[in-house]
Amino acid sequence: MFDVILYQPEIPPNTGNIIRLCANTGARLHLVKPLGFSLDDKQLIRAGLDYHEFATLSVYENWTECVEHFTTSRLFAVSTRNTQRYDQVAYMEGDAFLFGPETRGLPTALRESCAESRRIRVPMLPDSRSLNLSNAVAVVVYEAWRQVGFMKGR
Ligand SMILES: C[S@@+](CC[C@H](N)C(=O)[O-])C[C@H]1O[C@@H](n2cnc3c(N)ncnc32)[C@H](O)[C@@H]1O
Repeated sequence: MFDVILYQPEIPPNTGNIIRLCANTGARLHLVKPLGFSLDDKQLIRAGLDYHEFATLSVYENWTECVEHFTTSRLFAVSTRNTQRYDQVAYMEGDAFLFGPETRGLPTALRESCAESRRIRVPMLPDSRSLNLSNAVAVVVYEAWRQVGFMKGR
């Protein structure tokens, strides 16, 4: 299916919502430390409900450790600073999506480590700052899943 990578997420309910989203869509979730919360944070568990038991979750000490697992995947950087619309890309099973932290966004070096054709953004009205992280993940994962015919979904 797909891989969702959260680089240094900060806000527990956002990651909780994303755990639940991944459990519902079959996406694997990867968290890159440092995290802004502990994994047994009540707010995180409340937002993820029991779904954290069903989502595949991996945690990495740093980006170098994480990226080693994606050498054969197509890695997409998802950022407000990109220009290519997320719906103008043809996704494939196994694609991986990298999202930035809530207050800082993706570091430029990580964003630019993806080829320009693999940098995507979700459109917003002019002068908007950004979507909530968990909403941005939902929009992108559902578009990718839609494109593969909601494989295994019903
Ligand atoms: C709250 S936003 C970060 C805000 C930060 N000031 C920025 O502009 O990147 C957290 C993450 O959600 C994702 N995100 C939010 N809105 C987005 C959009 N319109 N297009 C693409 N990614 C978005 C990005 O991965 C971003 O790093």
